[in-house]
Amino acid sequence: MTDSNWAQLENHKAPALLSLFESDAERVAKLTVELAGIYFDLSKTHLDDALLSEFSAMAENVQLGAAKEALFSGAIVNPTEGRAAEHTAERGTGNPDAVAHARELHNRMRSLIDAIDAGALGEVEHVLHIGIGGSALGPKLLIDALGREDARYNVKVVSNVDGAALTEAIATMDPHKTIVAVASKTFTTTETLLNASSAMEWMRKGGVADPYAQFVALTAYPEKAIEWGIDESRVLPFNEAVGGRYSLWCSIGFPVALGLGWGAYEELLEGAAAMDRHFRTAPTLENAPTMAAFADLYYAQCRGCETRAVFAYDERLRLLPDYLQQLEMESNGKSVTAQGARLGRHSSPVTWGGVGTDAQHAVFQLLHQGTHLIPVEFIASKTPGHDFDTAHHEALLVNCFAQGAALMTGRSSDDLARNYEGNRPSTTLLLDDVTPGTVGALIAFYEHRTFANAVMLGINPFDQFGVELGKQIAKDIGENGPSGFDPSTTALIEAALGEL
Ligand code: F6P
Repeated sequence: MTDSNWAQLENHKAPALLSLFESDAERVAKLTVELAGIYFDLSKTHLDDALLSEFSAMAENVQLGAAKEALFSGAIVNPTEGRAAEHTAERGTGNPDAVAHARELHNRMRSLIDAIDAGALGEVEHVLHIGIGGSALGPKLLIDALGREDARYNVKVVSNVDGAALTEAIATMDPHKTIVAVASKTFTTTETLLNASSAMEWMRKGGVADPYAQFVALTAYPEKAIEWGIDESRVLPFNEAVGGRYSLWCSIGFPVALGLGWGAYEELLEGAAAMDRHFRTAPTLENAPTMAAFADLYYAQCRGCETRAVFAYDERLRLLPDYLQQLEMESNGKSVTAQGARLGRHSSPVTWGGVGTDAQHAVFQLLHQGTHLIPVEFIASKTPGHDFDTAHHEALLVNCFAQGAALMTGRSSDDLARNYEGNRPSTTLLLDDVTPGTVGALIAFYEHRTFANAVMLGINPFDQFGVELGKQIAKDIGENGPSGFDPSTTALIEAALGEL
């Protein structure tokens, strides 16, 4: 993308949001897309015909279409690691060889689940899933969203190396009736392996004669799991070309498939596949992930927005902001291009958020009247996730829609403390219901939006070298003690860890 493209966009005089509706009776139709049980409303953003055509031209320039084909066909789209990114193959929409391989591995996962259901691992009531980052956030989100009433097992996800997390998770578990799923793409992540060892110890102390027999491994490096002690029959491998934060769709999704049932897992994959087909084939100006990326780029690159906020107006989706933080920030939080040159622009904005209506009573003051411009995203469901009076759900949705309207419309007052400038952008994603299918489509929407953002900026969204230095220094401290570090770090180590 040339600098002049960006300069043109930066110089765009954006009309006020309300006037965009006044001048274009078709605006809602133009800026909304409905698919896979989700209604995407981008009409309360500043995207207008001029911006849309400018961004569409940019997408042509950077060959977004060819980049999508490269992604779906299994070409090397992660050049720094020399890999494809085959998460779409897990939902049946990627390159045929990878799709066939994914099916084989899914069948293997299903057989193990059937065997567990049939009692092959003894009486099972609990599933302790241990992983971190992409090996935990997806299962945690899905189980929290969909496992409230229908879960077939008591599934808990532990990620933090703080032993308090494991203590809390096992509090309601009987070690004799627990399966431990150790989820790690690399099977080298120190937090995960330490938690797995402690879970093993907990089982031993609880009187389980052969704890290894209750362990399952979910990994792209099966040989490492076997070396760790897990029998090959309970190792569920996945394709190395599936990135950690894109791995919910392969064996990392094991606790979801086990906890919610295979049918639900298939619905999840199909929801994501519907979004894949849409992203791959829908024209640019009807393409939900692409248009959402245009809005992201406009605010981050041209309006100086350093953050974007995501609020789930549905308790079932309360972990969505956490999930998106890794997806968006680990993918696009980079200052070099895929070719290794300096980016020269802003990288991904900071993603943050929470749950509505709670957040209205905490952070919305700043969103309405603060000096930062922060694009807001609302996610809600038409259908409630509880049996209480419909007044609850009505209040939830009314509040959600009111916030979007208030941000945009504002209200003027001569008393500046009571003045709302308005003209603040938001997007709203309205699900028919929170089901495996809609959540699958929703997550795939965010994956593709992240990819489209990356392509437009020239970033490789599939590596994450920024996390390595901290890991290395932690290892060095563990091996070498307090010496050899800066005085502040040395003093902290000495104060809290003594001689190690
Ligand atoms: O530290 C970052 C990271 O590599 C993530 O990208 C990944 O999801 C997480 O760690 C866990 O890695 P693994 O699945 O290999 O244990």
